[in-house]
Amino acid sequence: MSGGVATWLEGARVCVVGGSGGVGKTTTSAALAAGMAARGLKVAVVTIDPAQRLATALGLDALDNTPRRIEPERFDAAGLPLGDGELWAMTLDPKRTFDELIARLSPDSQTRERILANRVYRELSDAIAGSQEFTAVAKLHELAQQETWDLLVLDTPPSRNALDFLDAPDRLRAFFDGRALQTLLRGGGAGLRLLGRGTGLVLGLLKRVTGAELLSDLSDFFRLLGGLLGGFRERAEQVEALLRAPGTTFLLITSPEREPIDEALFFERRLQEAGMALGGAIVNRMHVDELGGSDGAVAGLSQRLEQATGLSSALAKQVAAAFADEHALARRDATNVAHLRERLGDGVPLQRVPLLDRDVHDVDGLVRLRAHLFAERQALP
Ligand SMILES: Nc1ncnc2c1ncn2[C@@H]1O[C@H](COP(=O)(O)OP(=O)(O)O)[C@@H](O)[C@H]1O
Ligand SMILES: [Mg+2]
Repeated sequence: MSGGVATWLEGARVCVVGGSGGVGKTTTSAALAAGMAARGLKVAVVTIDPAQRLATALGLDALDNTPRRIEPERFDAAGLPLGDGELWAMTLDPKRTFDELIARLSPDSQTRERILANRVYRELSDAIAGSQEFTAVAKLHELAQQETWDLLVLDTPPSRNALDFLDAPDRLRAFFDGRALQTLLRGGGAGLRLLGRGTGLVLGLLKRVTGAELLSDLSDFFRLLGGLLGGFRERAEQVEALLRAPGTTFLLITSPEREPIDEALFFERRLQEAGMALGGAIVNRMHVDELGGSDGAVAGLSQRLEQATGLSSALAKQVAAAFADEHALARRDATNVAHLRERLGDGVPLQRVPLLDRDVHDVDGLVRLRAHLFAERQALP
């Protein structure tokens, strides 16, 4: 079986997997990369914050911030031989990627060392909202320069809002020209919003480092980082250009609940406005109706179970109730997906992936997920 998302990725060199938090971005990215490797490609996947068990299953425990090849035997054993394909994977270390970026932008080693040692920088660099999003794409850009990959798959950070990802370069520009911190120091809500999840850390820093020390660290910070602003702007432009390049495609993942679907639709509009290509949408963790979707099958189920299986009446009722719950959830999912289908229009392909009976935290799970992603004919209604 090799349809589904494989057809969306024909000719793609870069695939960015976006969506709300918790919908399955990380696991889907890994399953997608494995599936494309099994089609003979040399694929690298950049995962962000994978569950420890998944990282271990892939052999990704060491954080060297560069892709390493996954032993093909792991996939042979799970029934997905990679053949001539290769799967490489890494877990992004945002702090280190950011430091590497600073190192590359610094005009000389002295500037680099001074920035990396600056206390304000150290506390802020991984606290600024958007830095994880930006470092993810900066890593992607770096790998894309290497020309050795047939396909790069980028998982996106676990931000609550999928759109943080698109706003990241702007936020980072504010960081480099010192606007974020200046606004914060002047006080007021705007600064806090710019800093996002870093706010607590920044306030902690300001409490710890006070007086003359803070002032000298701050002025150093502004001066040194200001010197890197031009280089950063250029880099941010290259990174944004990569996201708009003809070989780059976004895949949108959502779960079948209304809220993430609405967020996915919002994300789709933003992508369009930004001139970025949407390859398709995946609805993950769909409830499957074992009863074939008919209300009639639910009514009277407990009696039929009791008669057919000899279950006690109480047990039959419990089993029937579980089926009825699934049935209701499956109907809700179908309604929500119909809404998504309608709003996306026919131009955007859609793949539905069922909620599996357990979490996807090992190679076997990835291979199962892959089968649904790449299925030509969908088992779901
Ligand atoms: N189709 C699926 N069936 C069952 N569990 C899934 C499925 N897809 C993802 N999961 C599980 O859902 C959880 C969230 O997935 P994850 O990929 O970490 O989401 P995200 O990266 O979007 O935050 C994980 O525990 C994962 O194993
Ligand atoms: Mg994730």
